[in-house]
Amino acid sequence: MREPDPAIAATCPMRGSDDRRTAVISGLGAGPEITRDAQGAWIIRSLSLARQVLKSTATRQAGFAAESMDPLPASIKRPVIFLEGHVHNEMRRGTARYFTPRAVAENYHLPMSALADRLVAELIARGSANMDDLGLELAMTMTAQIVGLTETGITGMAKILDRMVQPIRMQPRHPLYPLVQMIHGRVTFLRFYVAHVRPSIRARRKQPRDDVISHLISIGYDNPSIAIETATYAPAGMSTTREFMSLTVWHFLDRPALKARFLASTDEEKRSILEEILRLEPVVSQLMRRTLEDIELQAEAETVTVPKGALIRIDTRAANHDPAVTECPFALNPDRTLDTNMTRAVLTFGDGIHRCPGIYVALQESAIFLSKLLAVPNLRAAAAPQLRHNPQVGYELRNFTLITRPA
Ligand code: HEM
Repeated sequence: MREPDPAIAATCPMRGSDDRRTAVISGLGAGPEITRDAQGAWIIRSLSLARQVLKSTATRQAGFAAESMDPLPASIKRPVIFLEGHVHNEMRRGTARYFTPRAVAENYHLPMSALADRLVAELIARGSANMDDLGLELAMTMTAQIVGLTETGITGMAKILDRMVQPIRMQPRHPLYPLVQMIHGRVTFLRFYVAHVRPSIRARRKQPRDDVISHLISIGYDNPSIAIETATYAPAGMSTTREFMSLTVWHFLDRPALKARFLASTDEEKRSILEEILRLEPVVSQLMRRTLEDIELQAEAETVTVPKGALIRIDTRAANHDPAVTECPFALNPDRTLDTNMTRAVLTFGDGIHRCPGIYVALQESAIFLSKLLAVPNLRAAAAPQLRHNPQVGYELRNFTLITRPA
């Protein structure tokens, strides 16, 4: 069994050896290092195999409905997350400057801090607030700045994007499900384009700025291709960071010692604590790839050949808890040692060419906001948030009300 089961937590010498909160709704379940599911897809649970797949040049992106774009004409450019090879490298190189620690410090630190101050001041004035709303506004505002979606209102845009990643309310087995889902997707996308993307493109065609949309215009992207790229960036940056911030607040509010340690830490230590929470509870629960030719994977006991055309599902949660990499993997322990050359968040931000460019943005914006929020006197949760699973994102926390009035 690769995914350490509760028996491992029970034998762990540390106190509080199973601190996971989202495990009940996320992940592909316990099982061997490599196996196949009922549909024939290959399930991977060890960090070593996951990295071999993500670093292979003989695979292509198969997550986030990548293959649904295959029938579209070649004139419509694919978003970066669906590109491979040279074109992908070029796009990452062209946009890397928006994501460096220096860019984040110089361009976004002040607006992040000002927005966090306002949201925390409003929470104190009202005495309560919904953490899912605070996280949505914060994550959407920062992502919108990087992408260049700054001509229209953040709240309306965040709501449309949230609708884009929510499954439709219909039984997936219903015969009309695929049709209704397609119509829902297209209508939501069109609303996003007309209300938010088109005004931003117009403004930047007149006066370019330092953001992703201006870069896309400079390399000749047309409006539909820009719209598709922004519709990928926006949920990628918004939904993940929003859920992560809510989860972190939930953990901190129940652990006064960890909260005090976080508040007293340097910026670097804060990021390290946040990465440990992300290792324990990765937001995106699976990464998917399709093999372009037969690939050989070196498992613990044998070499496994995955044939051309196979679908691979990587369980990020299991890889982050790989017992070969760390001890007591279910414990929230910022002082843990990890036997890997990866960051402390392990596979939470992916690996290989598609590794998330927004890591530093997400960690920095969370550290700034949480430093201000957790310092609010009498801050507590009205009740535990409702947990649910979104197949496109991972875990979601809703109805998470924070209160600041004395008990
Ligand atoms: C806690 C927050 C975040 C998490 C957990 C996260 C997670 C991930 C993961 C796992 C991938 C790799 C997907 C794959 O390999 O199939 C990814 C890719 C990506 N992320 Fe993030 N992300 C976060 C924040 C952000 C932010 C803030 C932005 C932008 C503002 C962003 C933009 C992207 C983009 C554009 C890609 C595609 C990169 C490529 O394919 O080359 N992410 N993210």
